[in-house]
Amino acid sequence: MIELAPSILSADFARLGEQVRAACDGGASIIHVDIMDGHFVPNLTIGPPVVKSLRKVTDLPLDCHLMIENADEFIPAFAEAGADWISVHQEACVHLNRTLHLIKNHDCQAGVVVNPATPVGTLADVLDLVDYVLVMSVNPGFGGQKFIPATLHKMRRLAELRSERNLTYRIEVDGGVALDTVADVVRAGGEILVAGNAVFGNGDPKKNTEALLKAATEAAMLKV
Ligand code: DX5
Ligand code: ZN
Repeated sequence: MIELAPSILSADFARLGEQVRAACDGGASIIHVDIMDGHFVPNLTIGPPVVKSLRKVTDLPLDCHLMIENADEFIPAFAEAGADWISVHQEACVHLNRTLHLIKNHDCQAGVVVNPATPVGTLADVLDLVDYVLVMSVNPGFGGQKFIPATLHKMRRLAELRSERNLTYRIEVDGGVALDTVADVVRAGGEILVAGNAVFGNGDPKKNTEALLKAATEAAMLKV
């Protein structure tokens, strides 16, 4: 099933509740929340208090994408604030197995993320632990960047590995997903589509969400 997860990174933070509700009205079924620490990525964003406030304005799953060092220190606070899904970067976690178990022990869905330069092969020993794998299709840190087509083969490979190994994780894609790239992403196996700039950058978030979902669903129907 194809789902759209608007990233609030490109939303107007002074009108966050209203913007999230508009995206929900357009058919969004997950809210993607980008957490950056200024160390793992060269930008700073938000922490648990904003997750707690978002929890009050939507019942949709809050998908917290941690782009931080020392994730273990903060996972309990995000879970407590109302996160439903928590993903961590393979590149940022020295004890990835432990960190994924920590997320699950807090009753959240656990995801692992790979940067554009990180091969899918590095995930071989955690694929049976995760609920989803997030393929970064830009270098993390900022919204509105250009989609990197060389990441498409990783979505295909993850779909192959899932059937070869009889696993159930879902494939999420994040970065540069827009009307001109969404069909390629869906054809390659992307199922949960994160979009920031394409939803909140210009125009009406509701209409933008509807248009993206329509393009994604059409591409899924044509998929062989
Ligand atoms: C990038 C973030 C993304 C970002 C996506 O570091 O993880 O979630 O907000 O934004 P767009 O869709 O604008 O590339
Ligand atoms: Zn993200």
